[in-house]
Amino acid sequence: MEVKSMDKVVSLCKRRGFIFQSSEIYGGLSNTWDYGPYGVELKNNLKRAWWKANVYERDDIYGMDAAILMHPKVWEASGHIDNFFDVMLDCNKCKKRFRIDQVQQKYPDKVVMETVTIEGKTCVQSQVIGTLKCFECDGELGMARKFNLMFKTFQGPVEDRANLLFMRPETAQGMFVNFSNVLDSRHPKLPFGLAQIGKAFRNEITPGNFTFRTREFEQMEIEYFVRPEDADKKLEEWVEARFGWYLNLGMTKENLRKRPHAKDELAHYAKACTDIEYNFSFGWSELEGIANRTDFDLKQHAAGSGKDLQYFNNVTNERFYPYIIEPSGGVDRSVLAFMVDSYSEEQVKNDIRVVLKLHKDLAPVKIAVLPLLRNRPEIVELAKKIAHDLKKSFVTVYDDTGAIGKLYRRQDEVGTLYCVTVDVQTLEDREVTVRDRDTMLQERIGIDRLKEYLSEKLS
Ligand code: GAP
Repeated sequence: MEVKSMDKVVSLCKRRGFIFQSSEIYGGLSNTWDYGPYGVELKNNLKRAWWKANVYERDDIYGMDAAILMHPKVWEASGHIDNFFDVMLDCNKCKKRFRIDQVQQKYPDKVVMETVTIEGKTCVQSQVIGTLKCFECDGELGMARKFNLMFKTFQGPVEDRANLLFMRPETAQGMFVNFSNVLDSRHPKLPFGLAQIGKAFRNEITPGNFTFRTREFEQMEIEYFVRPEDADKKLEEWVEARFGWYLNLGMTKENLRKRPHAKDELAHYAKACTDIEYNFSFGWSELEGIANRTDFDLKQHAAGSGKDLQYFNNVTNERFYPYIIEPSGGVDRSVLAFMVDSYSEEQVKNDIRVVLKLHKDLAPVKIAVLPLLRNRPEIVELAKKIAHDLKKSFVTVYDDTGAIGKLYRRQDEVGTLYCVTVDVQTLEDREVTVRDRDTMLQERIGIDRLKEYLSEKLS
């Protein structure tokens, strides 16, 4: 299967207003990105598709939107204070930093990683044997050091330890701490889940690959509470459901794979995890992880808060901690993967046509209305009126800033599904030309039928 070039997508993102470097006029903030006019539409469409599939189309999942700032004790109980760190090595010459897993990939015989249990807690310990050369220069890598990935901030005017807060590194904890609120207000029966989309922050040591690894990003997470004995089966079901979601939105099957985690890769809370990975030009990389978090989180928060977070089955009188299956995906990574996957170049006569063949639910713009002759006021006026009417039902743009060939190419590049062209003939027969993005086939449709015609195509 063809692995699509990232460079072309990155250049398209800037050229057409999908994604810009953050604070660019000040020289940019490295590895931080802003979504432009088309990018925000694509991102919102992706989140809407996720919410529809996981909240609206199911009757066992409730939506949530928890605060980013949480009580600092949340992060003690969750294990993030003790366990959410990367081990890194610095080059003593060029000062570049490398994560231990990158170093292990380069020097598999010199880095030993093993899973150990200390005072009942499982963690991964790493040991570097001897002195290792830097990847980038002839310097040497220094001692391995731990680095907590949580961003810190202060609440109120006094910047001391008592006012220290953390920017959440995952949205998940906002759902665990609201478990009993949802139980008490909605009375769901197991299995049921909570779903949330929101920003998360991690002070990554090695961000990069455009929006793939950043310090500020958005997650789409589900915490699905199940009976412990059902956890393995539910994990499998969720892996299939989530894999299917990407395929239903048009992702190429050959570019997507499931990868179960090895034991020494598991996060401190997980018993099992399968990643859904996309075949980017920089290698197979995680879009989403689906984990069995066991009863770790509810037990930890029960102990930390002193509140009873068990589930009570009033039919059998059982009281127990449910297990949690967690499909946790990245919004930004999915947007990037869908852009890369849908990017295509086609030879059309003597020209290369660049098209984003995005699924209709994801395409930022559904319809563009274009006047064939922009020096004919009657045509321009009618085209503007048609665009104005269509805007009430579909995301529609009007463009008269170039010749028709150029306007088509521009719309193809942003993935607009249909171009509606108003020409001289339209003034007589009240018909417009509708051009399909993927086939480039054109059809004449009466203006009075246009909305119905497009509704059918887009439904
Ligand atoms: N609650 C579980 C959790 O946060 P994770 O594998 O660390 O698990 C879940 O993160 C998803 O969040 C990843 O699959 C990825 O899509 C996204 N993600 C994580 N770190 C990211 C980063 N630095 N930049 C962009 N997306 C990230």
